[in-house]
Order: sequence, then structure tokens, then C-alpha cells
Amino acid sequence: MPSLGVHRRARETPVTVPLPCVLIMSPPSRAHVLDRATKIRLCSGRTTWSTEPVEALGLRSIVMTDGPHGVRRTTTDAAIIAADPATCFPTAAGLGATWDRDLLVEVGEAIGREAAAHGVSVVLGPGANIKRHPLGGRNFEYLAEDPLLTGELAASLIEGTQRTGVGTSLKHFVANNQESMRMVVDVVVDERALREIYLAGFERAIRRAQPWTVMCAYNRLNGTYCSDDRRLLTSILRDEWGFEGVVVTDWGAANDRVQGIRAGLDLEMPGNEGANDPVIAAALETGELVDSDLDTVVDRLIHLIARGNRAVDGSAADSPGPDDAMFDRHHELACRAAAESAVLLTNDGVLPLDASGTIAVLGGFATEPRFQGAGSSQVTPTRVDTLLDAVRNRVGAAGRIMHAQGYDPVDDVSRDDLIDEAVLVARAAEVAIAIVGLPSTYESEGFDREHLRLPDEHHRLVRAVCDVNPNTVVVLANGAPVQLPWVDRPRAVLDAYLGGQGGGTGLARVLFGDVDPGGRLAETFPLRQDDHGSDAWFPGTGRQVQYRESIHVGYRWFDTVDSPVLFPFGHGMSYTTFEYADLEATTSATSVVVTNTGDRAGTEVVQLYVRRPDSQINRAAQELKAFAKIRLEPRESVTVTLELDDRAFAHWDVRRNRWSVEPGPAQIAVGSSSRDIRLVTTIDVSGDRPEPTASDAGPAAPTSAADLRDDARFAALLEHPIPAPDDVEPFDRNSTLAEVSVTGLGRGLRAGAIKAARRQLGDMDEVTAKFIDRMMGEAPMRSMVLLGGGRLSWVNLDRMIAAMNAARRVSGLRRRVLRRR
Ligand code: BGC
Repeated sequence: MPSLGVHRRARETPVTVPLPCVLIMSPPSRAHVLDRATKIRLCSGRTTWSTEPVEALGLRSIVMTDGPHGVRRTTTDAAIIAADPATCFPTAAGLGATWDRDLLVEVGEAIGREAAAHGVSVVLGPGANIKRHPLGGRNFEYLAEDPLLTGELAASLIEGTQRTGVGTSLKHFVANNQESMRMVVDVVVDERALREIYLAGFERAIRRAQPWTVMCAYNRLNGTYCSDDRRLLTSILRDEWGFEGVVVTDWGAANDRVQGIRAGLDLEMPGNEGANDPVIAAALETGELVDSDLDTVVDRLIHLIARGNRAVDGSAADSPGPDDAMFDRHHELACRAAAESAVLLTNDGVLPLDASGTIAVLGGFATEPRFQGAGSSQVTPTRVDTLLDAVRNRVGAAGRIMHAQGYDPVDDVSRDDLIDEAVLVARAAEVAIAIVGLPSTYESEGFDREHLRLPDEHHRLVRAVCDVNPNTVVVLANGAPVQLPWVDRPRAVLDAYLGGQGGGTGLARVLFGDVDPGGRLAETFPLRQDDHGSDAWFPGTGRQVQYRESIHVGYRWFDTVDSPVLFPFGHGMSYTTFEYADLEATTSATSVVVTNTGDRAGTEVVQLYVRRPDSQINRAAQELKAFAKIRLEPRESVTVTLELDDRAFAHWDVRRNRWSVEPGPAQIAVGSSSRDIRLVTTIDVSGDRPEPTASDAGPAAPTSAADLRDDARFAALLEHPIPAPDDVEPFDRNSTLAEVSVTGLGRGLRAGAIKAARRQLGDMDEVTAKFIDRMMGEAPMRSMVLLGGGRLSWVNLDRMIAAMNAARRVSGLRRRVLRRR
């Protein structure tokens, strides 16, 4: 805790300009000691999770494994989901809601220590994709709807993990903001939105923390697969931002391997018995690739593998092994992180609760918690604290705890008997805690959510309990925003997000006031899904999605079009109150005195937004530009200094292809959420170029979603006509298995792929089965080679594609003949 009146500088790392290339001394190439075949072999994995060794240099192969909120060290090199126990921290949605850089360094460190102890050299995370729309199926794996918050927190996780000598993989680069058609979708996005929203979080994390690897995304970006995109993987990532590490594909994301090498893509994963080796060799023969292109990639891979060897040798890692003592320490950290993630959405004063009397704990999630999401990030926890046990432990003999399920935690079915039982229990208690949320089948990697609603039974439970118990507290377990049609009925609503294995204990600490609720929303909770500008353009049609809202994502949209929301970005209550005073601002730093005016210690997240009301440029009404999380004792004051970096007043200047600062007045708005601004002051920004001309301005900021329907407006943002979506036929390597299923062979292939995946995964739960089925429909044909473990060659795939095209031509001809008759 800071002492009264102490001047503390909140940590706000400036985005620094990389050193000119001439100053960076490249290490001598080690690729030349290897023969060409060995070099080619290094360019893709040996198994699902490991690289090739470099025997000539005495280097063993290294293991990479998921994921963002815990180590998923699979039990065998071929296994996909089954994994050894590891600490399951809150998912990124919860970690994002902590707004706590220091805590995320600690979590990153814990993940790194466990990784090293498990023999893992690179952890595949964190994810830095922006939550463009609340229905994104993988939003629980991402940190925020804002790029500054995303970049800062991703950097902290990377810093923490890499401190232990283990590497990270910042993913999924870039614009992987939906699950629908994620492996083939073409994201059509204008340059300003790309730079200011979708790249900005990656840029910040890379400049600040230099991850060992960056994982390129499956999707296309303005027509080019990310894995083929030289501008993305070399010009922007390495030349502009100074990234020094390896670019690895998302699993199965390589499109054109030769173009990929030229673009700056180093490592193709997973291993597939070198399906692309002959392709690379042939390109070297024809001169399509030159040896120096290959050597550049191989040098980067050797560097990574050498570091990876050190990570698990223990020479670079401070790793005592995954023993029980380590797991105990990390479990306590997981509990702390869960409490810091919990966002108190409403509270009329009922919280914190007294740990006495009769307390009803209701809901299936109280005993079978929803604490992480499904898909590649799924960790096998070392233990799981349930809410019911945690409340029982906390209250002990001082009170009586009763429980009823209220709903089935897995199946979304109507159960009057469960509701009736919960009502009886709630009626008999002084206080009722009802935990509701999203079952695992509602949100997962591999598919997007269909709506913002909770299951009907969860709504029924809340209403029924509120009818009989006037002291009802609702706890939410969810990876993304949900609608709360009854929000004013309970006396408090606490959002636990997906709190990881310590979620139950973390929640109990918050509910009984042992700690202040530490979370603040890192995303807007809308009233309705179609209140989002992006809604009509999510998830797009067929293989194309148009980002028509451009830079107006999340609160930027709601504040610009002045639309009401359920809970705004940055919102979250404390058990105490804070007063803001003495705001002083310059273009490089802002200071404000914050006082805890209550009689409890508490946590505040001081947020600084920049507004440019007189701007000539299409801008959001306000943008987060700095923040600091502070803890204050009762009546303690602290001067919080927030540094502003060179991006605070800049926008991406499309004309000049660089960041520019528009001169003129700027408001510095400081407060406790995007809609709870306490103090505003205006400063003068001198700018770094003359007044903008009409052509700089671009289309005006939108005033409603209707503006986004204007094709000409979107074309003006893109600076070219809106591209036509792909033709589905003739089929090619990027046709999806669902698309080719109009042929008999295609149907057979799809069924075979689903069967093979199910066989490989063994017993799986309902949500994993749904994920696999969806993925196998939307996967491009080329994944049968890339993810097929070497069972199918390109030659045979191309033959099948030719056969399917021929079958379509014949059936088309037949249809025409029949029509003529
Ligand atoms: C996911 C990645 C993950 C990889 C390996 C992919 O399907 O998109 O996030 O790291 O699989 O599991």
C-alpha cells in the first residue's frame, strides 16, 4: 500500500522508436553448417508440439504448448487435449479485467516456471486479438476491446514468462476476431482501423516485451493469408517494430509455404512429416526461392531452438520442478488473480456479506464451476475450488450454508424440480447467492456464440430467487458479455468471468470483503447485441467479413454514437469510494490526486481518456491512453502520475503512411470508467504537421449504424472498391470441406476428417465434439495435408480437387441438358 501523500509514478511504458537498422549487429549465420535438406527439414515441426533438433549444433528439439492461462503439456506428443496437471489461472477475459500489470507479470512467471518444469520451452500465448464483437467465440481468450489495455497486459504476461527463461508466442497475428470461417475468412479492413485497433496491441506488446515468437493467424487480411503476407510479417513486424524472434504458423495456417518463407514466416506447425519439404526444395531448384531466404529463416530457428534448450536445461530457468509446493504457491496466486478479475457490476450495499447467519448458495455452477473455456487453451487444473466449498470454509461454524442446484450445469434443459428446490432453500435463508452464467457449450474456440442470452433456466432461477429472498446476490460465470434482463432485481451482481481453478476461493474473498473487488470491465456490456456498430457485419458472409465500423470498436463506437449501454468499458465498483482532485496535465504526463474517502482499504483503476472534440479527422469520442491500478488505505491519498507516450495524440495518417499528430486542443479526461469521468482539463497539442486538408479527414465519424450501410463510405475508408467475395467454385486448396461437400467425394472426405479427428482425440466432451465438427466443416482442403500427420500428399489432394471439379462440371452439364428437355 502506498503511504499517505506519497508521490508514485504509475508505470506507463512509452512506445519507443526502434534503433535504426545499421545499429543492430546481426549475429553470424549458423545456417551454413547445415546441408540444404536439414535446413528445409527445420522449417516445420517434428511432431504436433515439437521442432526438429539441430544435431550438427548439439541442439535437441524443443516443445511448444498452449496456452494463455496455464500450461497444457499434452500427455503425448500426438495428443491434442489430454494434458498433465498445471495451474489454471483465470482466462484472459478475467486477466484483462484485472487491469493489473504487476499481477500479470506474476501470473506470466508462474506459467513460465511450470512450463520449464514440464519441459516446455515456448508457451503459446498470450492472445492479443481485439474483442470486436461480444459474440466472438474465443473472446474469453482475449484481453480487451481496447488496444492499449490489450498491449500493456499482453506485454506483462510475456515479460513474466520470459523472465523465467521460457518463451512465449503472441497470437493470433492479426485480425483473428471471430471463429466463424476463421481458417479462410478474408478480413476487409481499412488501414486506420488496422493500425490503430488491430495491430496496435501487438505492436505495444512486441516493442515492450519482445516475445520469442509471434503466431500468425489463419485468416486472410485484405485478400492475403496472414502466413503469406510480407508486409505484415516483415515490413511491419520486423522492419517497423523491431521484432527479433520467430514467426510460427497457427496450427495448420500455412498457405503457400514458398511465399511464406519470402514473407518472413519461419516455422510451420504442427509437424506433418515434412509435407512441404519437397515444395521448398523445388522452389530452391527453380530459383523461386534463393538459399539466403532459407538461411535467414534457419538462423532464426536455430536461435529459438538454442534458447529453448536453455529454458529446460535449467541454466536460464529458475525452476524447482512441478512439485506440490510450487502448485500450492501457484494455486494461491490463482485465487488472488480470480479476486482481482471479479467485477462488481452493481451493489446497493449488501456486499460485502457478513460471514454468519443462513446463506443459500444456489446454482449448478456452485459445485460444477465454469472456470475456463474450451478448445486449445483448456488446462487440466491441479485442483478446483468450488464456490460452495469456499463459502463453507470461509463462514465455518459462524453460519449455516445451504445449497440447491437450481439448474443443470451442463444440459440446457427445463427442470421445474430444480427451480422449486432452489426456491425452498432461498426462502429459508437470510441471504441468497445465485451463480449463473454460460455453460461450456455456449462459448468455445471453433464457433461463435449465437446470442447474448444466458440459458432460460438461469434467468428463471434468478427471478425465482429474487421473488422469495430480498437479499439476493447474483454471481456470473461467463467469458464474455451477457444480457441481464433482471439486472435491477438482485441487490448486487458480481461478474467472476472464467476465474480459473481458484475462482471459488477468489469469489468468497470478495463476497465477504476480505479483499476489495479488483476487476474493471475491459469490454462494454451492451444492452442489445445490435447496438454494436459491428453487429450487421459480424461474422460476415461466406468467406468474407467487412469491418465497416472501422476504428469504432467497443466503447469507441458507443461513445461516438452516444448510445446507452448496460455497463460501460472500465466500469467496476469498489467497497469504498474515491475522490479525484488536482488534475494537472501536459502532453507527456498527467497527475491527479486520488483519495480513498471510505473506511475500508480499496482498489481503484485510474483511467485517462483523450478527447479531440475539435478534430477535423474521423475519430472516436474518446480513447483510453493511460491507466494505473492503485490500492489505498482508508482516507489515504496518492498522487498518480500517468505518462503519455507518443501515441497519445496520434492517428494513423493514411496519406503519409505514418503516425501523425493533429495540432489543436485536446481534453484529458480522468476517471473511474469511460462513463464516470471525474475531471477534465484541456491542453494544447502542437502537432507534427500542418492543419489537415480535406483529403486527410476521410469520411466523417458515424452517427449511427445506418451510416455503415453506405457502401461508398466503406469504399472511401478502404481507398478502393469493396472487394467481391470469393467464388466458391471451381474448388481449390482453400475450398472448405463444407463447400466441397456438394460432391460425393467431398462428403466422404469431410466425414473421414471428422472421424479421424475424433479417433485422435479419444473420449471428448460435448463442446469439444461441437468444436471439432465445426472446424472440420470450415477447414480448407489444404488442412488435410497440413494437419493430416503426413497421411495425404499435395499431389493426391490436387487429384481429389480435380476430380471434384470434374464431378461438378458433369452434374452442371446434366442439369442443363435436363432443363432443355
Ligand atoms: C489455435 C491456437 C493454438 C494452436 C495449438 C490453434 O487451433 O488457434 O491458439 O495455439 O491451435 O493448439
